[in-house]
Amino acid sequence: MNSSLGSEIDSFYESAPPLKERDSIMEKLNEFVELNCKGTKRVVCVTSGGTTVPLEQRCVRYIDNFSSGHRGAASTEYFLKAGYAIIFLYRRGTSQPYCRSLPDDPLLECFEATDELNIQVRQPYSEAVKRAIRDHHAAVAGGFLLKLPFTTIFEYLQMLQMVAVSLRSLGPLAMFYLAAAVSDFYVPWKSMAEHKIQSGSGPLDMRLVQVPKMLSVLRTEWAPMAFCISFKLETDTKILLDKADMALRKYKMNAVVANELLTRKEVVVVVTDSEKISVQRDKTEAGSDVENPLVKLLVDRHSAFINDFNA
Ligand code: PMT
Repeated sequence: MNSSLGSEIDSFYESAPPLKERDSIMEKLNEFVELNCKGTKRVVCVTSGGTTVPLEQRCVRYIDNFSSGHRGAASTEYFLKAGYAIIFLYRRGTSQPYCRSLPDDPLLECFEATDELNIQVRQPYSEAVKRAIRDHHAAVAGGFLLKLPFTTIFEYLQMLQMVAVSLRSLGPLAMFYLAAAVSDFYVPWKSMAEHKIQSGSGPLDMRLVQVPKMLSVLRTEWAPMAFCISFKLETDTKILLDKADMALRKYKMNAVVANELLTRKEVVVVVTDSEKISVQRDKTEAGSDVENPLVKLLVDRHSAFINDFNA
């Protein structure tokens, strides 16, 4: 890592507001690691949803992005099915594992009152609700699914660092699947207005600073032996694969998943140092999604990575 990136990273962390629940997050992480980081159990940290960039310290306004968290939530289900333990680092309010087939407002739409005292699941949702509850509880009760919510870019990057350092001892058994849409620009805490920015003072002139790419430090310092998958999103297909290839080499990722905004639910391309593999949703199967074959492919590649490491 070059020294200018190092100082950008230091200044990001030094100026970030301290994480409110740091101690309890650390406690949950320690418990999770103790339970899962034994023998040959594999662990994946799935990041999901978009980070916000607050514009005021007592935040009224913020910059956000489009990410729904669908990719992360769906992938988490498939990783659990493949036997992984998961740290699901997700944006509050975005898609959750096992809830994808439920309506947006499940409590109000899935349940109905049968009389003054009793509530039941409404018929059209009955099977989906029971399955969601059963699978979710099994994963959480077994200790295989730890959910950690974030909202801002400050929270996300502090939590990612804590997770990565906690998983370092797993070496190649740990995977990072970085599907979160991470803000590229932010307002440093110290130069941010404390109170609500007043609209009467005319056009708003605000300087946003570049968020340092943490992929390098994740790779070189936090968890150097882990299997790392980052994502590349573009809206212009002409530049997508070149940018993914550049990210692969620059940040020494094991693979970069390239996707285009409008087709991201249908097809992605997994870029490695020797291949570009197109992964498609199976259109002949109702309710299928692209995350199913994507996770299968990455699990296979992770197995090969672990075998090479142990050879
Ligand atoms: O959530 P959905 O609606 O289902 O959509 C899924 C998705 C399109 C968000 C997902 O598939 C995806 O592509 N996520 C990454 C989007 C993104 O932030 O791309 P990027 O090109 O800006 O960043 C590339 C990588 O660098 C990402 O893995 C990101 O975690 C990482 N990054 C980005 C910025 C930054 N300052 N530091 C980083 O480490």
